[in-house]
Amino acid sequence: MPAAQESSLVAGRSGAATSHTSWRAPKSSSSQQQTLLSVTALTKSYSKAQVTIPVLQGVDLMVNRGEIAAIVGQSGSGKSTLLHLLGTLDEPDSGMIYFDGQRIDNLLPRERDGLRNRSIGMIFQFYHLLPELTMLENVLSPLMIQESAWAYWRNRRRHTERALELLDMMGLSHRIKHRPNELSGGEMQRAAIARSLIAQPRVLLADEPTGNLDQQTGGEILEILRILNERENLTIVMVTHNHAIARQADRVVQLVEGKVQEIADSRAA
Ligand SMILES: Nc1ncnc2c1ncn2[C@@H]1O[C@H](COP(=O)(O)OP(=O)(O)OP(=O)(O)O)[C@@H](O)[C@H]1O
Ligand SMILES: [Mg+2]
Repeated sequence: MPAAQESSLVAGRSGAATSHTSWRAPKSSSSQQQTLLSVTALTKSYSKAQVTIPVLQGVDLMVNRGEIAAIVGQSGSGKSTLLHLLGTLDEPDSGMIYFDGQRIDNLLPRERDGLRNRSIGMIFQFYHLLPELTMLENVLSPLMIQESAWAYWRNRRRHTERALELLDMMGLSHRIKHRPNELSGGEMQRAAIARSLIAQPRVLLADEPTGNLDQQTGGEILEILRILNERENLTIVMVTHNHAIARQADRVVQLVEGKVQEIADSRAA
């Protein structure tokens, strides 16, 4: 285990914001420019009481490995819907999604669950931590779901070390036994980030990760995401209402009337 002061990503917590221990295997530089996510002609509508609401009406989108992409758009424009489709939490009506060269929009439920557990990390505005579990257990929960009871038990020491390392990176070493209702919003979101990273995902999907936080705490969360992106080459797709946040992304796309409008220069977002 690294010493806390050498590993935290959180300035002013247990260490400096600029130094930490890598939690991912190093990537070859040749892989850095590849397309990681590719979306073509995606459509999705919802039906309620015999009324069909068309939400996504032909979305095209490309996200490169190592990129931060921001998705903006008015409330109800379909940002969360799109993120859920990218995360295989839901299926499109038509169109295609490729993840790292593999088509993922038409996988069987078991294959989708496997892909999501192995390769996709997700964080949400309201954290979605399990209230009855401690922070440590919350961070470990994806592995508990992913592995058989026997495999998890066999690997438990390694998993626990990793979870502690991630909690340390998030400046939460002093909160591992706390339950979510004993934490602040920023602490809960940092725990949710640690949980999203436990299975070493290839992409992090973030749905308004700062939407429930004050400006300073939201800034801390963004800084963590930015460091993870820069240092670990973690690809991040982030939904946000906040154009100031979107301007910090490499690429900004706006959902308008069910389609993507790319804002080429993110500073114009
Ligand atoms: N399960 C559902 N059943 C019916 N309609 C839905 C469902 N989920 C979303 N919708 C509708 O789809 C549209 C897009 O919803 P979505 O949550 O993707 O918007 P959003 O851009 O994320 O909005 P916000 O910024 O408010 O979070 C909305 O009109 C919403 O009411
Ligand atoms: Mg939403």
